[in-house]
Amino acid sequence: MSADSRATAPDVLTMTGVSKTFPGVKALDDVSLDVREGEVLALVGENGAGKSTLLKILSGIYRADSGEVRLGDQPFVATSPKAAREAGIAMIHQELQQVPRLDVAQNMFLGAQMTSLGVFTDKAEMRARAREVLQRLDPTIDVTARLGTLRVAQRQIVEIAKALLAKARVIAMDEPTSSLTPHEFERLVEVIESLKAHGVAVIYVSHKLEEVFRVASRATVLRDGRFVGTVALKDVDEGRLVAMMVGRALEVSHQQSYAKDEIMLETRGLGRGEAVKSVDLTLRKGEVLGVAGLVGAGRTELMRLIAGVDQPTAGEIRIRGRVKAFRTPRDAIENGIALLPEERKKDGIVPQRSILSNVSLPRLPFLTRFGLLRRGLIRSRVRELGRNVSLRPLDIDRQIRVFSGGNQQKAIICRWLMAEADVLIFDEPTRGIDVGAKAEIYRLIEGLAEEGRSIIVVSSELPEILRVSDRVLVMRRGVAEGVLAREDATEQSIMRLAVTGAQLQGSNP
Ligand SMILES: Nc1ncnc2c1ncn2[C@@H]1O[C@H](COP(=O)(O)OP(=O)(O)OP(=O)(O)O)[C@@H](O)[C@H]1O
Ligand SMILES: [Mg+2]
Repeated sequence: MSADSRATAPDVLTMTGVSKTFPGVKALDDVSLDVREGEVLALVGENGAGKSTLLKILSGIYRADSGEVRLGDQPFVATSPKAAREAGIAMIHQELQQVPRLDVAQNMFLGAQMTSLGVFTDKAEMRARAREVLQRLDPTIDVTARLGTLRVAQRQIVEIAKALLAKARVIAMDEPTSSLTPHEFERLVEVIESLKAHGVAVIYVSHKLEEVFRVASRATVLRDGRFVGTVALKDVDEGRLVAMMVGRALEVSHQQSYAKDEIMLETRGLGRGEAVKSVDLTLRKGEVLGVAGLVGAGRTELMRLIAGVDQPTAGEIRIRGRVKAFRTPRDAIENGIALLPEERKKDGIVPQRSILSNVSLPRLPFLTRFGLLRRGLIRSRVRELGRNVSLRPLDIDRQIRVFSGGNQQKAIICRWLMAEADVLIFDEPTRGIDVGAKAEIYRLIEGLAEEGRSIIVVSSELPEILRVSDRVLVMRRGVAEGVLAREDATEQSIMRLAVTGAQLQGSNP
């Protein structure tokens, strides 16, 4: 379908004047959008703007307080997730809702006592139907495999297949790529193209604006639960879209270096099996070292060795010149090394407890600086950090589970920002975090460096690496291919090392 015919394609879905209040929060205030047949509409806005809430209303998880939803020319009220599914609305959630111990086919039929499909008691037939649909999306996925054994990207494709199986006309995707590799993203783009070709309407939520420009033709912008506008993406650039999202132009700041001569952390020949091979790294006091590389290059594995999560099979770690061996993360923490892991969901969010208690979980040894008796001090520090990362709403006594996905991330980061550690390692610190808050987090990292802490930032986002790093270590296939000084670090120089390695780089030593 060409861009022109799409502009005249009929609306599949319109939402008009939708409002929703949670106790104490107006999550949506008079929001409208429409999606046409075969179109991808992006839904963008800062953390807590109301994107997930709007999609949850669409898919029958929440009821709107007011407003109207129409499917085609019919008014529609999603009274339950089942009703929404039966009306042809599918949702790929921010947190995938699948059952890992069931197989792929069972997951695809899950919860769907699909009236349109009949009830399948025949396993073979169920698998055949599942296979037929999956074939269109990713033939490598085995319908008899246990879902838990699949990669996140494949699990997502299973969700999309499930939507197709249910003959969805509208598929809403809530941050589908937050844990995908660039390669997997390309695969998703192909899948979305084929959905468009079949006339499916897609609503796409993402904080990655390059992606938004790639996949969507229009974007609806929300800010603080309010509708800001809908724009054709060919008419705006990224800066303009960001300005709509945050209500101001973001200044691009350049990080200053606070690196001293003193070496804080050093690894020599550090390795573990095939994942990490003989890595030499130095980190100075007050320095921010970026660690770049493709997914699977061994960056996270290296950090886990340094932070005592895994044990090296070769080489050594020195702190201030002294050789150290960490058997546990606690050992590392006691030696002043704290790691914000990449997989944060597993990492002790207690959903029913407040932001305050999640940020200052008393058992964390690195919070000793504040002492147990100084509760008032902890409170005010948590509040201050919350304000710095633009936690919304800024209410540290609220249960963490009612915060938006990105705001939960910010809270976990605050826990690490409070850490009494000389070396702070952040693995993908801004995943799921909006552009405005990202800038705040970069400033906080800079502030830590200024205090004399040493910082490692692992990131797959090159602009992020370039923004925060004094030097950039580039890894490829477990090997540290090279270290670039800030003057020499560009997206091109990093990618060259990450993809082809140092040995192919001509004769310059
Ligand atoms: N179940 C709930 N109870 C109370 N408040 C909620 C609930 N769900 C969401 N909220 C609030 O509604 C607002 C909008 O949240 P929502 O999850 O829709 O944001 P979002 O745009 O999806 O953000 P993110 O980019 O971080 O995922 C936030 O202030 C959030 O705290
Ligand atoms: Mg959300």
